[in-house]
Amino acid sequence: MMEPVTNFDLAIVGGGPAGYVAAAEAGKAGLKVALIEQDKNLGGTCLNRGCIPSKVLLEARDFMRPAFYEESTLAWQMSRKEAIIAKLAEGINQLMLSRGITIFTGRAFLQKDGSLLCKNGDNTEQISADKIILAPGSKEAELPFAPFDHRYIVSSTDALSFGKAPHKLVIIGGGAIGLELGRVWQFFGSQVTILEMLPQIAGLDDKQIAVLFERALKKRGLDIYTGAKVLKIAVRRETTAMGEGYEAAFVQCELSGEVTEFLADKVLVAVGRRPNTTDMGLIEAGVQLDERGYIVVDENYATTKAGIYAIGDAIKGPMLAHKAETEARVLIAKLINKNAKVQVSNIPAVIYTEPELATVGLSEAKAKKLGLKTVCGKSYFAANGRAQSMMGLQNGQPLAADGLVKVVTKAETKEIIGVQIFGPHASELIAEATILVDKKMTAHEVKYTCHAHPTLAEALHDACENIV
Ligand code: NAI
Repeated sequence: MMEPVTNFDLAIVGGGPAGYVAAAEAGKAGLKVALIEQDKNLGGTCLNRGCIPSKVLLEARDFMRPAFYEESTLAWQMSRKEAIIAKLAEGINQLMLSRGITIFTGRAFLQKDGSLLCKNGDNTEQISADKIILAPGSKEAELPFAPFDHRYIVSSTDALSFGKAPHKLVIIGGGAIGLELGRVWQFFGSQVTILEMLPQIAGLDDKQIAVLFERALKKRGLDIYTGAKVLKIAVRRETTAMGEGYEAAFVQCELSGEVTEFLADKVLVAVGRRPNTTDMGLIEAGVQLDERGYIVVDENYATTKAGIYAIGDAIKGPMLAHKAETEARVLIAKLINKNAKVQVSNIPAVIYTEPELATVGLSEAKAKKLGLKTVCGKSYFAANGRAQSMMGLQNGQPLAADGLVKVVTKAETKEIIGVQIFGPHASELIAEATILVDKKMTAHEVKYTCHAHPTLAEALHDACENIV
């Protein structure tokens, strides 16, 4: 059944952090907004299958003592996760309600005439709008030779809801998802092996930080192999020495020129994500995609079709919720006022392992590649009173706090162009660093900015003080 056309100032496809933030901003500015989402909850990957559920499970350690690592406790953590998702989803609904947004539940298809169809079962609604924002997000990438079977070869969505901890979990990809979910399941009792193709984990090009980060995670029990080329994943039936049959996944991998096989109850493929841009009529309607499926946009997020814009994971750039949200704010500001002086500049990136890794701006290696002359300053958490006060004892001696802050500045002006933080609460500390980089502040200015004592943030101050 086709419902009559409804007219809006703005229609937004996708209710993730890009879409719902754009809707909230546009609603606040008084626009009549339609938001189309195919899932039952708003919030997208971030809330339902990504950032939030993984953080709930990563924080599980604060709720449990080792003696209680049992399935019942895992079940409790899973229900805590579901309850938190539901509460936050309800918060987004309330926000939409308060901003007067009309929500359509269904899958959107762009028509050649620039209108949208929203299909949900037998019901189809036609929506027309002066402007459209495409924010359809992304999905997990598969290995071409080992598609997800969701039983042995699993995605990050599957790995956020295992009913019990796999005995042996092999993770392909040592990026944000691989490392975070590796820590989650290691905590719940899995023996975790991470196979990363590149020479360093986490895409790090700062050798020292890459080595220290990997060492810290290995010290906590993650089995990490870099330079690992996965050749094949086979699920087969084997027989134990006792004559019992069992089925498992076998990951064949080339390591230092030799072929090695890893046995796993589950293999988590975490090798990146792909934009969600197929089966919604984009190309047919004149919205150009690049060779990897990303929607092509100009500096104002305009696609190749007039009146249609795109933001979030479906356009190029890091696939991060906060990048998507900031793009949403910038785009709405520009749609309301063409001359708005706003832009997305420095996007922090965080890996929420323990210890955490957080970066913003340029690394020393990247700055050098760009031909910049740099001066860097470092400060180690082992010399930071607050970080040290968080550590235990070994053989009667305090364990050294892991990690450091590294600040990269332009050699001539000492303007801060990048910060890398590896250590406790790096995810929180990166906020100050992002402002320093965004506002082009100098190491000299930070040196004379009073930082509370004792705090972890003093490590950022001290790294700057070591420069000037
Ligand atoms: P990623 O791109 O961060 O990492 C994937 C890793 O897999 C890379 O290190 C890559 O070298 C490796 N890899 C690729 N193919 C491989 C192969 N055949 N064998 C072995 N290793 C291979 O992607 P990930 O971790 O899947 O995350 C997807 C997206 O979600 C990313 O954009 C990420 O930034 C985002 N995300 C962000 C989080 C955060 O901000 N904390 C948490 C989780 C995901």
